[in-house]
Amino acid sequence: MDIPYLRGKVAAQAHVGLPDGTVEEEYARDGFSGRYAHLYRGRPPVAWSRIEGPLRPRAYDTRELVSGGDALGRRALLENADARLHVAAIDQPMPYLFRNADGDELMFVHAGAGQLETDFGPLAYREGDYLLVPRGTMYRLVPTSPTRLLTVETTGELGVPERGLLGQHALFDPAVIEVPTPRGRGTLGPDARGEWQVVVQRERALTHVFYRHDPLDVVGWKGTLAPMRLNVADIRPVSSERYHLPPTAHATFAAAGVVVCTFLPRPLETGDPRALRVPFYHSNIDYDEVLFYHHGEFFSRTGIAPGMITFHPQGIHHGPQPGAAERVGEATRTNEIAVMIDTRRPLHPTEAADGIERADYWTSWQERTR
Ligand SMILES: [Fe+2]
Repeated sequence: MDIPYLRGKVAAQAHVGLPDGTVEEEYARDGFSGRYAHLYRGRPPVAWSRIEGPLRPRAYDTRELVSGGDALGRRALLENADARLHVAAIDQPMPYLFRNADGDELMFVHAGAGQLETDFGPLAYREGDYLLVPRGTMYRLVPTSPTRLLTVETTGELGVPERGLLGQHALFDPAVIEVPTPRGRGTLGPDARGEWQVVVQRERALTHVFYRHDPLDVVGWKGTLAPMRLNVADIRPVSSERYHLPPTAHATFAAAGVVVCTFLPRPLETGDPRALRVPFYHSNIDYDEVLFYHHGEFFSRTGIAPGMITFHPQGIHHGPQPGAAERVGEATRTNEIAVMIDTRRPLHPTEAADGIERADYWTSWQERTR
């Protein structure tokens, strides 16, 4: 353990009993798990008057993407070599099967219901589901109601992070994960030529493979690799009534260079009036941070509604907006559901993202004067 240095006016413990007239910034490596310093500042580091240059907090309103995109109904918004984030709106069954040979796909069902047909059999999906499709698995989405998805495509293999001292049943018992049971057939019929089409993506190029039989013909499978479904209602977050836990406490999935966390309704830090109840200020010095707002009220972000995305790049601070501490007020719980995607490498917004950007989001911290 590194011995911490203490200089000047500091709190005895992180996130508790800040010196009067200060705000706390956590400056830390490796997404808060590495070396760190807490800086007690006179003003929030987000109280900028102007920002010039490419970096700034960004917000995107995916509700403006009603339809369109590729035949999977999706559009990429942010991407790097490890991850590609898409949103999709689909209301028709896919006319072909799809196999992603570039990466794993983690789909989060923001709205809608239907079936995910796969090599391994079908999975029924509903709002709040994570659907994990490993690289190379053939699938087809068959919505029964208009479906909106957030999809994270990862170059590395997605898995569930170790729980360490919390134990193997923490956050969710792996027994709640659902895997498909094969049926030996899909629901897609042959096209006009009597063929079934499989679209394969490799290095983002599409190859079309045709069969004269239904390729979803698996009648049995065994092993440790399969598509899976996990609903956020089955995730049981940990919390402390006296300590604001870092976002890593809510990690749900991880791949090389990518961490996916789920923020769920939970008690606030009501056990000590000196304990911080809103997130501390920080700049992500080792991760870019994306939040997808799924459901509820987001007290630390004004002007953010379900279906919106915020993007906080490395190097620019973020934290609660002005008035967040007051808005928390006497609340004893948070009712928000949000998905966070943190990436090691910088993410780059696409043109589709530029088209739905809320250009004034970076100004939303400005009013704060003390
Ligand atoms: Fe953050």
